[in-house]
Amino acid sequence: MDGMGEDGTAAGKQPRACLPSVLRGQIMSVSEILPDLFFVERGYLNGNHFIYRSKAPILIDTAYVCDFEVTARLIRSLGVRLSDISLIINTHCHCDHIGGNKSIQDQSGCEIALHTIGKYFIDTRDDWSTWWKYYHQQAEFFKATRPLEDGDVVAVGPHEFEVLHTPGHASDGIVLYNRRAKILLSSDTLWENDMAVLTVRVEGSAAVHHMLQSLERIEALDVHTVFPGHGKPFADIKRALSKAKKRTQRYLENRQRLGMDLLKKIMIYTLLMLKKVDQDTFFQHLAQTHWFKETVDLYFNGAYQAKYAEILNGLLERKIVVCKSGQLFTTVKP
Ligand SMILES: [Fe+2]
Repeated sequence: MDGMGEDGTAAGKQPRACLPSVLRGQIMSVSEILPDLFFVERGYLNGNHFIYRSKAPILIDTAYVCDFEVTARLIRSLGVRLSDISLIINTHCHCDHIGGNKSIQDQSGCEIALHTIGKYFIDTRDDWSTWWKYYHQQAEFFKATRPLEDGDVVAVGPHEFEVLHTPGHASDGIVLYNRRAKILLSSDTLWENDMAVLTVRVEGSAAVHHMLQSLERIEALDVHTVFPGHGKPFADIKRALSKAKKRTQRYLENRQRLGMDLLKKIMIYTLLMLKKVDQDTFFQHLAQTHWFKETVDLYFNGAYQAKYAEILNGLLERKIVVCKSGQLFTTVKP
């Protein structure tokens, strides 16, 4: 299969880290946001996700594959058996949202629904458009059984969610809106204080414009609480939208800002995936990836070593990255 390793994961030159996640002391919270619908707040490596408890349980997103044991334990702790799961809805096919899909589908035979564009990526085994290969992430293909379109309504038990297609961050990105409770599951389209990365090299040069349009679309909704793909739930959607729109505008005015944000975030994400990296080999590691070279070429004219040093020093100064005994690791929650 094109681009696939023997173990069914996206192929890459260096081994991708798969860590004993149950030992990683992850902090997370679980809250019931509608009757029997639970929101699970994870971290940055793992996307937040949702569990609907019933005789035919439903999941919305399934976090990152390396932390599947934690995800499975959380699901079981709510009295839900993996083998009973009837449906997984994915907000997009990035690695931190689909990580449990394959294993859960193998155990349950469940349906998996995602936007028709994401379904196409999965159907055609396109691990570039899903970002997995581009960012050297671990992920497994699964069987996408149900395409979702903008305007569809999906039933999560008695709770109805409208599907809004919100490309920009991901071409298959959707948000889910429960009009009755005024709840928005905003995935990676809207976070409270930060923004998900915009990967122009995969999503196309218009991605920033698409993001802005998606934010404007969300602005029209009457929302009481937002449950984002990463971070805590929040109520002040106007403030979050205003911040996200301003940042997107700044990206449009100064594209190097976008490049800097992308480099910073993916360097942190890489450290989360690898847990820790020898400070003498981190640059070489990054230099072998598709994304690092392409991002520095696109925004900074190939100044690989200089950008690496500038960003790493900034992250070390802010203690977002720490160096101990020659090993680099991040203080960001996985
Ligand atoms: Fe994402």
